[in-house]
Formats: sequence, C-alpha cells, structure tokens
Amino acid sequence: MTTAPVRLPEHLIHPFAPAGRANPHPAYRWLRANDPVHHDAASGLWLVTAHADCVTVLRDPRFSAAQGQRERTRDDALPPSMLTTDPPDHHRLRAPGALLLGPAAVRPLAEGLGADVDALLDRLPPGGRIDAVADLGRPLATAVYARLFGLPAGELKRFEALARAASVNLDPMVAPARAALGRSAAGALTHYLDGHTARATAAGVRVPLTALAADDRLSRGEMLGILNLAVIGGWQPLAEFIGNALHLLLPDRTAVASLAGADEDAARLAVDELLRLEAPIPFTARVTTDRVALDGGVLPPGARVLAVLTAANRDPEVFADPDALRLDRSPNPHLGFGGGPHFCLAAPLVRQTAALLLPRLVGRFPALRGPSGAPDWDQCLVPRRLRAFPVDLGGRPVHVGGRPNDLGGEL
Ligand code: HEM
Repeated sequence: MTTAPVRLPEHLIHPFAPAGRANPHPAYRWLRANDPVHHDAASGLWLVTAHADCVTVLRDPRFSAAQGQRERTRDDALPPSMLTTDPPDHHRLRAPGALLLGPAAVRPLAEGLGADVDALLDRLPPGGRIDAVADLGRPLATAVYARLFGLPAGELKRFEALARAASVNLDPMVAPARAALGRSAAGALTHYLDGHTARATAAGVRVPLTALAADDRLSRGEMLGILNLAVIGGWQPLAEFIGNALHLLLPDRTAVASLAGADEDAARLAVDELLRLEAPIPFTARVTTDRVALDGGVLPPGARVLAVLTAANRDPEVFADPDALRLDRSPNPHLGFGGGPHFCLAAPLVRQTAALLLPRLVGRFPALRGPSGAPDWDQCLVPRRLRAFPVDLGGRPVHVGGRPNDLGGEL
C-alpha cells in the first residue's frame, strides 16, 4: 500500500521558498510534529526535523557525508576535505586538524583575542549607530583568523575579501552563476593560503597554521584543504553569528543585564543558547547507504537527506519552552555545531570568541538597542544571516579602562 505524500498546509510557506526563508520556524515546527521524516517533492530531499532522528543522521555510518556533499564540485584541485569524507579517511584528515583548531591550539589565543575585542569596541563611535554585521561580526571573524593564521595587519582586507567571496560555496541552493564565481573564489583563496603558509613558515611564525603545516601526516594539498575548509566553513558563520545573536538578545533586557555581568561559564552557556535558537548552519546533508528506519519514518537507500539542525534545536521533546531564550539553559544538547564524527572542529574557538565579545559589548554599552522593525534576513539558506543589523549604542560606553576581561588567558 502506498501512502499519499504529505504536504505542508497552505497557510505555511515552504522554508526554502523566497518568502519562507525569513522565518522557516513555523514550517519546521509543523513538519517536526506531523511528518518528521518528510519527502520534499520540490527539492527531492528528505527533511529530518526531530532531534533524536537528526542525532542518528549525524552519528550513524549509514548516513554518508562523502556522498552527501557530492554535489559540491570544486575547481581548485584540492583533495577531498574532512567534511566530505567518511571514516576511516575522515579520521586521518581530522586528527591533524586539532593542531589548528583543537582546545590546546585555541586556548593560548584567548589573551590576544581579548585584546582584539577591546580594540574593536574602542573603535565604535561613542553613542552612535553601527551595523552589527559589518562593524562587529566581520572584523571579529577576521581577527580570529589573523590569530590562527598569523595574518599581517596589512593583509586583513584582502583576506576578508577572499573569505567573503569564497563563502558563497556554503549555500547549496545558490544560483549556478554565483556558485561558479564562488568556486573560482575558493581557488583564489587556496592560492593565497598556499603563499601565506610558505611565507609564515619561512619567517618562523609560531601560530596554529604553521603547526599544522609542519605536520607530516598530511600532504600539502590535504593541509591546504583543511585551511580552505576552515575559512569557507567558518569565517562567515562566525561573522554572522554575532548579528543573529544580538537580534535574539537585545529585546530581552533581563538577558542583556545578566550577560553583562556573566563569568566565563555563564557566557559560554549563553553562547550555546543563542546558537540553539538561530543556528548559522541550519542544516547539513547526508546520503543513505542503506534502508534506514528512523523514529519518524523510513528512508530508502540513496536518499538525499537534510538533518535540519535548526528544527531539532527547537524540539519540545528535548528543550523545555523551546522557542524561549534562556541564557542559563543547561544541559543544552543543541545541534548548532552538528554532532557525531563531523562535529564542528572549531566549537571551542567559537565559544571562546563569542564569550569574549558578547559580555564585553553589553557591559560597555548597557543601553544597546536593536531596530524595532522586522529583521532583515538574507535570502541565502546557509549561513542563516541578517543582511544588516543596525544597532544603537545608546549613549557613552561604560569605561572599563582597558582592564583585561576576566576571560583573558583563562580559557
Ligand atoms: C558560529 C560559527 C560556526 C557554526 C555554527 C559551525 C557549525 C558547524 C557544523 C554544523 C558543522 C558540521 C557539518 C556537518 O556535519 O556536515 C561544522 C563542521 C566544521 N566546522 Fe564549524 N561552525 C562554525 C564556525 C567554524 C569556524 C570558525 C571554523 C574554523 C575556524 C569551523 C570549522 C569547521 C570544520 C573544519 C568542520 C568539519 C568537521 C568535520 O568534518 O570533521 N567552524 N561546523
């Protein structure tokens, strides 16, 4: 017996349709409750929306990441990256990546990043208006890569332009002409990273990038593949996370006040909760290598599956009051960083960086306000991002006298 395909009710807009992208949550809520393993006729994809099922998609070896990413062709001659491989190749590529992004590599960066955050906040016009995306998120993300890669100050603009252009490759549903431009930008980025790595190594610069480059477990192409993936997979999501976070945070004045006085542990909990509610990477792709029965339905072999992380992150089976912002939510098993073998390698770095910025920002500018109108979400699906987020700094900053934040050096 065949069952009729389930369709979204008419009053809900498809989450990939232009009008549905601004607020996909109602459609995902309906799918999670009514058809948690949903065959989407428009895209041919299977949308998996319940938390438990998404965890299975991310962890079970019958869901191939290598096949899930196969549509993402590239023209920079790099070998497959860890994101596009399955075990055992995946482990071989990921293990050395810890030299670049593991906790021991990023912890020593905290003090310098704290100084970068202070310098960034010092530059904001007292009492003025800024765009949180352009004036906070992007320079913060670039500062992070400057520390990881040892980028000279004079090259930051060039690096940022390359990172932005290549980031187009994150969105699997981008128009073909833009995708071609993105692929060519990824090639230019690799070329730049190759030259930079050679120069930094020759100059004896000691940063995570040169530690990775010195590791003989990887070929040069594989090492460059990790750098390329770190930039394309990370620069824009990190940059955009700041705007997304402030959009959630600023209307809730109690949350703002509590974050201003947050210690390191509390700040990290807050970062995870903000990631839960608006994950910059809302879904990730896999292909089934076999028939798989999930709690919410059965998938055939060869099914192209999206684990909809942003839907799982609001699953009431796992999160009490799932649409509410609770900065002290703990435990918080959100999937904003994915899960299983491909769990975001930079999660420690992202938590550390955002936990440095957000408390200092709202501590210095306690009257910070966001816009009153509807948020201006960009059309791109990955990363989920605001086109701009104008923020009123609300009067003169509270003077902190250059005092290092309590987080500095202790992470
Ligand atoms: C808020 C910012 C970020 C978010 C939300 C995020 C999210 C994610 C997610 C969901 C995955 C899993 C993808 C999958 O399973 O297919 C992932 C993987 C990855 N991320 Fe992040 N990421 C962020 C920032 C970064 C940054 C800054 C870097 C590098 C500096 C980075 C490097 C990586 C790498 C290398 C992987 C692949 C891991 C593997 O395949 O084993 N990410 N990230």
